[in-house]
Amino acid sequence: MPTAGELEQLAVSLAVGAAEVARAGRADWVADAGEVERKSSATDLVTAVDRRTEQWLVGELARLRPGDGVLGEEGGGREGTSGVRWVLDPIDGTVNFVLGIPHYAVSVAAEVDGAVVAGAVCDVALGETFRASAGGGAWLGGSRLTGTRDVPLAQAVIGTGFGYDRELRRRQGAAAARLLPEIADLRRLGSAALALCYVAAGRLDGYFEAGLNAWDHAAGALIATEAGCPTAGAGTEPLSARLVVAAGPRLLDPLRQLLTATGADAVA
Ligand code: IPD
Repeated sequence: MPTAGELEQLAVSLAVGAAEVARAGRADWVADAGEVERKSSATDLVTAVDRRTEQWLVGELARLRPGDGVLGEEGGGREGTSGVRWVLDPIDGTVNFVLGIPHYAVSVAAEVDGAVVAGAVCDVALGETFRASAGGGAWLGGSRLTGTRDVPLAQAVIGTGFGYDRELRRRQGAAAARLLPEIADLRRLGSAALALCYVAAGRLDGYFEAGLNAWDHAAGALIATEAGCPTAGAGTEPLSARLVVAAGPRLLDPLRQLLTATGADAVA
């Protein structure tokens, strides 16, 4: 079994390589007036570049670690035999990718026996790569990430996101309206993976979202945790589509209480 550090190194090289595929792919996609397809709803977008980037990742893993399992957002899955499973989001922030907003990322996480032990998130446009391994800390380049400012909820800038289902969005919007007066501000940046890394880097004071899939949060949640920012799901549950929350250690409980008081933790 590879160490968490070895899996982290591979996650970084996969995320950086896939970001190059996505970067080059976007240039061609724009030049060819590329098509946009719809997935779960009319607002849930996918492009040929998402698929090509995931195919590249799956191909590299088949070459380098043929016994590992894979779970990919665009369907690139396979069962493994080694106890390692890779959880892949080839482009997290596809709406930003389509619009040309330079805020989307490749997210690569490695699980061992079901627990995430390593991850990397590469911001395609900026070229920043966030990484972590269990017990090895969270890093951006040579800088160790140490999490958020220590501010009370009333001064906290909190990231969030909204799902692709119309009724879910209605509930999320209503809860956000109740939450907004209690915090400094909300940010909806468009990539859950990057939002979690931004908590790790102290660029957001906290983050929450309902309706996420494992590939959206697997790497980012480890990076936040390793930076000293604990994560939580709904109630005593692990992170799931019901809820993902991350914040600095002193803000997590007040934020979770606020999510409960505003109903933001019960929308999914
Ligand atoms: C989405 C982004 C977005 C979040 C959505 C996700 P995708 O992932 O992370 O920020 O609000 O819930 O589905 O569809 O761009 O891979």
